[in-house]
Amino acid sequence: MSKEAILKIEDQELSFPIIEGTEQEKGIDLRTLRSKTGYITYDEGFGNTGSCQSEITFIDGEKGILRYRGYPIDELAEKSDFIECAYLIIYGELPDAEQRQAFSDRIGRNASIDERMHRIFEGYPRDANPMAILSAMMTSLGSYYPYLATNDRSTDLANFDEAAAFAISKVRTICAASYRVSKGLPIMYPKKDYDYCDNFLHMMFSNPYDEFPKGTLQGKALNLILLLHADHEQNCSTSTVRMVGSGGANLFASISAAIGALWGPLHGGANMAVIQMLEEIHASGDDGSKFIEQAKSGTSGKRLMGFGHRVYKNFDPRAKIIGQACDELLNELGIEDPCLDIARKLEEAARADDYFVSRNLYPNVDFYSGIIMRALSIPLNMFTVMFAIGRMPGWVANWKEVSSQAKGKISRPRQIYQGPTIRDYVPMDQR
Ligand code: CMC
Repeated sequence: MSKEAILKIEDQELSFPIIEGTEQEKGIDLRTLRSKTGYITYDEGFGNTGSCQSEITFIDGEKGILRYRGYPIDELAEKSDFIECAYLIIYGELPDAEQRQAFSDRIGRNASIDERMHRIFEGYPRDANPMAILSAMMTSLGSYYPYLATNDRSTDLANFDEAAAFAISKVRTICAASYRVSKGLPIMYPKKDYDYCDNFLHMMFSNPYDEFPKGTLQGKALNLILLLHADHEQNCSTSTVRMVGSGGANLFASISAAIGALWGPLHGGANMAVIQMLEEIHASGDDGSKFIEQAKSGTSGKRLMGFGHRVYKNFDPRAKIIGQACDELLNELGIEDPCLDIARKLEEAARADDYFVSRNLYPNVDFYSGIIMRALSIPLNMFTVMFAIGRMPGWVANWKEVSSQAKGKISRPRQIYQGPTIRDYVPMDQR
């Protein structure tokens, strides 16, 4: 028997179908509500709104579960790598050896960017924010490779494999190049015999007579960070990809918009904000307790950055993995970072504090990822672009899913208007 929900509005009683996901998540299908009743639903921040049905990533925020295409994140973190997860997220299945090789080769072949793009980096001020550069460069890819960005859905989908490899591969080249130019250093070309993460570190840190070696601990740590960020269902930036893609925009334009969405401190910008907060606490001589009181007051304008999540209400499984990796990496590299000590104290204090416990505020992925990135010598202003590199497979897969829908509808929410009602125009001399 199909399930239904009954809604009573004034003296009208209506029935709406119930949709059930493969993990028994339930939703009421209200697509006909407005045409039947004239009412819309109001859900600011979309906390209760399913904007799509997706097969990519599953999260159970109450239980702290995250799975890419059915595979638990902790198992992938232990046994897989970023590129294999990218394939899984985009194509739905783990690759066999041949598919994996072909995918890696395609990413490797497309690591360089057009030489003319190199000159664009020079045009930016040295202190330009790398997120601004990344967003602009990403949409610009469409103008250097126009056959991959036609805004004709069937053509763009026919060329999807190549466009996806371009996005995943070139994003790290663009990020590394923007860093090199900001430091007045020559842009490094990618190396054929380096894997994805090693190549990024090489393009960031190699010098003509001092090459960043492959197979390092740093490369392994970077791989873990990227894997843990690879997708996270309908977050702010991924929903942006779907929103922009729903209008028929090409992959690069949709991703460029997502990079803008990721930039904010409540989303991808939180990893930078965490380190700024820890540095501020360290510089002030506080052990974290004063800051916690300020974050609780609700009037200081301060929040405990890296804590809380719209979806996870118990723990963020990525934070558990990353917290452990952080200890291991710093130990193995022999790095002592006072920020890590402060972070541990803050976590301990917040976990024992009723304010945080009663609001279900736990460390999220950004709480420790910044400390790992510091240990990798990634500059603070690049933390959010690192998130963007990691999130690329999720954005690409969501663009494909939204663009492949047979009857794809443009995303166009409604609103409840609260402005002035109709009034007469007042000429300038009478105002
Ligand atoms: N520190 C102090 N209080 C907090 C915090 C925090 N980090 N987060 C939420 N609260 C309080 C908030 O003031 C509110 O209290 P009250 O009920 O008394 O008004 C209550 O908790 C609920 O907060 P909310 O803002 O309604 O929750 P939300 O689901 O809209 O926001 C969040 C989620 C992640 C934006 C928020 O927890 C936050 O701002 N955290 C810090 C920024 C951060 O770490 N962001 C990274 C998120 S993970 C990466 C990603 O997926 O993008």
